[in-house]
Amino acid sequence: MSELRFDGLTVRYGATTAVDDVSLTVPEGQIVGLVGESGSGKSTLARAAVGLAPIESGRILLDGQPVPTTGRRRPLQMVFQDPYSSLDPRMSIGESVAEAMPRGASRTERRAEVERLLELVHLDPTRAAARPSELSGGQRQRVALARALAGRPQVVIADEITSALDVSIQGAVLNLVRELQSELGLSMLFISHNLAVVRYVATHVAVMRHGRIVEEGPTAQVLAAPDHDYTRELLAAVPGTNSRSPR
Ligand SMILES: Nc1ncnc2c1ncn2[C@@H]1O[C@H](COP(=O)(O)OP(=O)(O)O)[C@@H](O)[C@H]1O
Ligand SMILES: [Mg+2]
Repeated sequence: MSELRFDGLTVRYGATTAVDDVSLTVPEGQIVGLVGESGSGKSTLARAAVGLAPIESGRILLDGQPVPTTGRRRPLQMVFQDPYSSLDPRMSIGESVAEAMPRGASRTERRAEVERLLELVHLDPTRAAARPSELSGGQRQRVALARALAGRPQVVIADEITSALDVSIQGAVLNLVRELQSELGLSMLFISHNLAVVRYVATHVAVMRHGRIVEEGPTAQVLAAPDHDYTRELLAAVPGTNSRSPR
């Protein structure tokens, strides 16, 4: 895995500055949380990293080198909110995972690798022939994670991956993310509008508002003593916390 760094990144859509001079580092082997309300520019930042948003200025670096935008290999893999957008309903989940693997492996090797990846995300490998429609939302996100890992990425970007799931199964997917981080040394940018979700997986958190990072630091520190009113508002929205705004 690698370090991902955004360096003074600005993205504009017409008159809207969706990302405004953002610098943020995801250190190798760590999960950095990016939190902020809807429309704050989180997905645009993620999309810029995979060449899907128009970069006005700034750079995106992997281990200090510009992210390659050409070639078959995709060093950054994304997982999205809606697993239907990344899983072809006509393909079995095994085929979906195999499709994302680098070329060159034999059939037998691919099958073994699909089994390994399904086991890694705690899915029964004997279900490789199942279609996405036969799976629950949580299981589909496990497949989406397995598929992202199949591409042997240097960094994974997870954008609201638990936001469409029932609260009852969100925890299991978050536990899986934590487990993958410790087992594989995963480098991950973990995006959510929900600070409760972010704080559960991220060692470091950045708070985004109107396209800018308004606060960042070690998760425990930001949560215990937020500098910014906006962070306090996000924190106040988390059930079970008691953070009063001084205003
Ligand atoms: N393709 C696009 N064209 C025009 N405006 C966009 C596009 N994508 C995002 N935006 C705008 O950029 C801002 C940030 O959006 P987004 O990155 O999706 O925020 P978030 O993921 O935090 O909810 C919003 O004002 C949104 O309307
Ligand atoms: Mg978004």
